[in-house]
Amino acid sequence: MDSLSSSFLSMFPQPNPTVSHPPPLPLSSPSSLSSFAVFSVRTEEKPQTVTTTTKRTSGPKKQPTSLNIRKRESSVVVTDQSLPATIFNAFDTIINNFIDPPVRVSVDPKHVLSDNFSPVDELPPTECEVIEGTLPSCLDGAYFRNGPNPQFLPRGPYHLFDGDGMLHAIRISNGKATFCSRYVKTYKYSIEKEAGFPIIPNVFSGFNGMTASAARMAVTAGRFLTGQFNPTNGIGLANTSLAFFGNKLYALGESDLPYAVKLAPDGDIITVGRHDFDGKLFMSMTAHPKIDPVTKEAFAFRYGPVPPFLTFFRFNENGEKQADVPIFSMTNPSFLHDFAITKNYAIFPEIQIGMSPMEMIGGGSPVSADPGKIPRLGLIPRYAKDESEMKWFEVPGFNVIHCINAWEEDGGDTVVMVAPNILSVEHTLERMDLIHASVEKVSINIKTGMVSRHPLSTRNLDFGVINPAFVAVKNRYVYCGVGDPMPKISGVVKLDVSLSEVDRRECIVASRMFGPGCFGGEPFFVAREPDNPDADEDDGYVVSYVHDENTGESRFVVMDAKSPTLEIVAAVKLPQRVPCGFHGLFVRESDINKL
Ligand SMILES: [Fe+2]
Repeated sequence: MDSLSSSFLSMFPQPNPTVSHPPPLPLSSPSSLSSFAVFSVRTEEKPQTVTTTTKRTSGPKKQPTSLNIRKRESSVVVTDQSLPATIFNAFDTIINNFIDPPVRVSVDPKHVLSDNFSPVDELPPTECEVIEGTLPSCLDGAYFRNGPNPQFLPRGPYHLFDGDGMLHAIRISNGKATFCSRYVKTYKYSIEKEAGFPIIPNVFSGFNGMTASAARMAVTAGRFLTGQFNPTNGIGLANTSLAFFGNKLYALGESDLPYAVKLAPDGDIITVGRHDFDGKLFMSMTAHPKIDPVTKEAFAFRYGPVPPFLTFFRFNENGEKQADVPIFSMTNPSFLHDFAITKNYAIFPEIQIGMSPMEMIGGGSPVSADPGKIPRLGLIPRYAKDESEMKWFEVPGFNVIHCINAWEEDGGDTVVMVAPNILSVEHTLERMDLIHASVEKVSINIKTGMVSRHPLSTRNLDFGVINPAFVAVKNRYVYCGVGDPMPKISGVVKLDVSLSEVDRRECIVASRMFGPGCFGGEPFFVAREPDNPDADEDDGYVVSYVHDENTGESRFVVMDAKSPTLEIVAAVKLPQRVPCGFHGLFVRESDINKL
């Protein structure tokens, strides 16, 4: 689960150069990393002349006992380190080796980057072999999946959400497939690649005790003051998701502005650049905007540690950003990763996880759960110009990080939302493996304030998706990843939400488990006839990348969404491993051609 992926960098207002920033990636003893499976990241031990890199490989089980060193690509110019860079790198090493307390499991790279969480190298467009079935003709376009893939070998604490964003795209045309993996060329990625060492700090892994945190703050301030980076260019990772609206495709991470990307004719992924929408988008934007399939508008928000803690906004069908709507009725800085829309409303969950900048400075987590807080859902008309008509409804125990869909019933008097409820929300950041997410249906009577809710399944489910044509309207089918444990996904299930209206029974109507040692990611639904308004909601295919830890191979699988076994109708062997990641998107060829 990417619930906090790359977030909370927005705690540090980026355009303000006087603000101190979180500390840099700590550099612990390299010896402590000698046994974990990392295949493609660079070390920064001798950046003056050579950037070292582990050998690219597609297999996850080859445990390198020593790093295979090669020179950095010739296109990258590595200059001598400046004196300040040398000094601050030395400070980083000192902090890492002598000040840091022992790392917690959640930021222990030996644990975080084990198995298929270890990063891979970039891969240029490479033709793939269809090893099972036939790719359906409706799969005419490209499936992209975003996820963290750290550029540098972490020599100290590292959290899953701290990795540089990498896109894995499989382009399908006339039944043939081409696969490509590329970093999102963020400002952070680019300047650090140029320098040959980390410059901009990682928020989630950098705070271990007050002394170390203070030292890293000082180093970060020093790097800024000596011109090693400029935070106004953005310090995000773009590692969470993708969205297509206004005829543009974006890689997203909620701590920064969107990065526009496109696909070249040969299937290569190109970063166009950080996009501020003609200067109208500030600071950051959610990684989960909602695109109305009818109006083509995109609805989004940003959140942060200073009032307004939430700001709602939208883009028209041309991708032009409209005015901000600050939400001051959210009175505490809450973690707000996702939301939902109906035809008339936007729905924001305020959950028990809050932002804790002071705790972080003191060496604690940047977020923490408040068990005494009552979660709320906030409804605001989606075309509101201010928050005067916003209503909040308390929903005790409803801790939503991802939202699946929402709609209106009873002539608009009732708003329904379907979302996974994190039952043990206190584990969200530190122990994701202990999370159980129960998909629930929540109904809110707007007039009476009455809230009812019930679970749709007993399984541990997240990464829920629907037929994109049903965003904001009542839908029946949901496809979810099975956490085993989170964030590993051992299979996909299909839920029939309508069953909950009959007798409140288990709503799973189809299932596909990937098998022992095989783990997939978020599913995505691709309609067979997207332009046919009479097509069944589940007439299409569910796609995902699946990795086999036994063989070290990754596949792109296509499942029949109507089949009770989610039958695999096609599988493509990928030329390189796809690490576990976050969210994906299928973009049709007609839309790719608009980029
Ligand atoms: Fe997410």
